[in-house]
Amino acid sequence: MKHFTTIQSLVQHLSGLHKKGLSIGFVPTMGALHNGHLSLIRIAQQQCDIVVCSIFVNPTQFNDPRDLEKYPRPIAEDIKKLEQVKADILFEPRVKEMYADNEHWHLPIGELEHLLEGASRPGHYQGVTQVVNKLFAIVKPDVAFFGQKDYQQFLVISRMVTLLNLPVKLIMCPIARETDGLAMSSRNVHLSATERQNALILSKTLNRVKHNFNSDDIWRLKLEAERAIAAQPGVELSYFEIADAETLHAATANTPHIVALVAAKVGNTRLIDNVILVD
Ligand code: PAF
Repeated sequence: MKHFTTIQSLVQHLSGLHKKGLSIGFVPTMGALHNGHLSLIRIAQQQCDIVVCSIFVNPTQFNDPRDLEKYPRPIAEDIKKLEQVKADILFEPRVKEMYADNEHWHLPIGELEHLLEGASRPGHYQGVTQVVNKLFAIVKPDVAFFGQKDYQQFLVISRMVTLLNLPVKLIMCPIARETDGLAMSSRNVHLSATERQNALILSKTLNRVKHNFNSDDIWRLKLEAERAIAAQPGVELSYFEIADAETLHAATANTPHIVALVAAKVGNTRLIDNVILVD
């Protein structure tokens, strides 16, 4: 695997590959890689000639400085995992390489910025779009791969691609889960054994909603889900929504595509999960 930390060296290397007509798949990450990330790389390998993975803990998408500080950064282990899965290129820039001082960024992503995750994490999606736009400009991928776990992030990045006419195809890849159902997340390392058990209420509730889903009963399903999660000790519900899969507004009986989304704090760790109810 080739490992670059500067934009210039990466761009130079990639331009040779672009000239050869090789297709470039891109998996942007913030590191602390788990099997979910590795599954994105495997999917990218099936669809593209070259797979680039980036590891960059992007400061502009953290609205809580303590969250940024404690974000796990096990870079040596990450490199080993990427080598094992045979990623072609790792881009691991420093903050100064990615950002000039006092940069300003605002993308009009509309309501998505203020709904659900956006409401809980003000400014988060501006930071995400800012860095992903920069990464796309550097890597110039043909296809970029993102996990369904960050469902709203995928919608926001799709909106950005449309707004800026970016020449990249986006693929949303399935959520990777532990055998007990917990959605894989870099943040799971912060959970104690008890918190990890408590966290299972999220995937269990989503499964129950999927199993019992009936579009005439959305209101009752949502209420029951909220009650089940609120009743779980050690879990503080942020939101549970059964939403229009495109707008994220509350779904009605006539909504064509529907997703259930949840966020909760388990101990001090904020977790999100979702399931597509009507595709
Ligand atoms: O999903 C993530 O890990 C991050 O939000 C991303 C897309 C790498 C941007 O920093």
